[in-house]
Amino acid sequence: MAWKSLDDMDLNGKVALVRVDLNVPMSGGEVTDATRIERIIPTVRDILAKGGKPVLLAHFGRPKGTVVPEMSLEQVVPALQAALGDVKVSFASDCIGGPAKTAVAAMGGNEVVLLENTRFHAGEEKNDAMLAAGMAALGDVYVNDAFSAAHRAHASTEAIARLLPNCAGRLMQAELTALEAALGSPAHPVAAVVGGAKVSTKLDLLGNLVTKVDHLIIGGGMANTFLVAQGIEVGKSLAERDMTETAVEILDKAKQSGCTIHLPSDIVVAREFKEGAASEVLPASACPEDAMILDAGPESVAHIAEVFTNSRTLIWNGPLGAFEISPFDAATNAAAQKAGDLTRDGSLVSVAGGGDTVAALNKAGVADQFTYISSAGGAFLEWMEGKDLPGVAVLKG
Ligand code: 3PG
Ligand code: MG
Repeated sequence: MAWKSLDDMDLNGKVALVRVDLNVPMSGGEVTDATRIERIIPTVRDILAKGGKPVLLAHFGRPKGTVVPEMSLEQVVPALQAALGDVKVSFASDCIGGPAKTAVAAMGGNEVVLLENTRFHAGEEKNDAMLAAGMAALGDVYVNDAFSAAHRAHASTEAIARLLPNCAGRLMQAELTALEAALGSPAHPVAAVVGGAKVSTKLDLLGNLVTKVDHLIIGGGMANTFLVAQGIEVGKSLAERDMTETAVEILDKAKQSGCTIHLPSDIVVAREFKEGAASEVLPASACPEDAMILDAGPESVAHIAEVFTNSRTLIWNGPLGAFEISPFDAATNAAAQKAGDLTRDGSLVSVAGGGDTVAALNKAGVADQFTYISSAGGAFLEWMEGKDLPGVAVLKG
């Protein structure tokens, strides 16, 4: 690994500019899921323990280079303060210039400064060197702890790293280590679950995975597109009929690479898409014209469980069915449970990521049984696609 960690840095008396991801869901002024906040705490505490002064850089929402008061990071301060307990949190109304300099100069020993939304400056998304220099001028060292924003080449994730000694924070380190174990140099056989609505949004992902994994389990709406590609009628199901040729190409590429693709052999169909809708289990080839496929059936789930049992590594992105509404969450829940059990028994390394996926695993009550749950959505996907993440690539050892 080319990057340094906090262990390699001398931070005593130094100001550490830490890029974090505080892009948390909020409703009515309250943070509704503080996971991302909680996961940066080890980094902040380790910097303090090494005698450093943590100054946090982050974005919130997509204000597109103008000051949008509703997207101020000040509203995150109470939740950050609650997560940090005895460490004082101060806030500066800009991430560069006078307000930031004053707040940093006034820092005490057991204190963190949070700087205002980097995306209030147009230079942030342009990866502008001037903005990066303005931020870099505030500190001595740059720490990137925002894996979930590392797919963005922005001033606070990329350009700034070129201006200061830099390293990965604890969360970034944990993400990169877990992902390396899952797809970089994993124990084989490797199984991947890819679900979700559309083949078109996960083309690069499927194309990369078939060259890397031994088993690719396809679920959700995108499985329907693959069924159609094989000449199977799917009634009123969600399917991208213009993507069937692409699906055939992916099937061919998988065959050449020695990757077995698993599609549902049985399906759960319903006439309406609502909670508790009447449903029936049918063979995958027997979807009625007026029905839609909303989940994989029990035979498919048993087959998936067998693949998991025979695998050493599992990487998961996307639910197997319409997991938001019951009973169409059954396949996702059962497969997630199985993966959790095998992980607990020590026979499987399981890594999952992506907003929907984490929500589904939390709903199934098994997220804490997985080896690692990524805090990232888009960055996790781009990483699984085999792309270089600019915010990681720029961290040099
Ligand atoms: C996220 O929430 O996925 C990250 O914070 C990145 O946000 P973005 O998609 O607005 O760049
Ligand atoms: Mg995103």
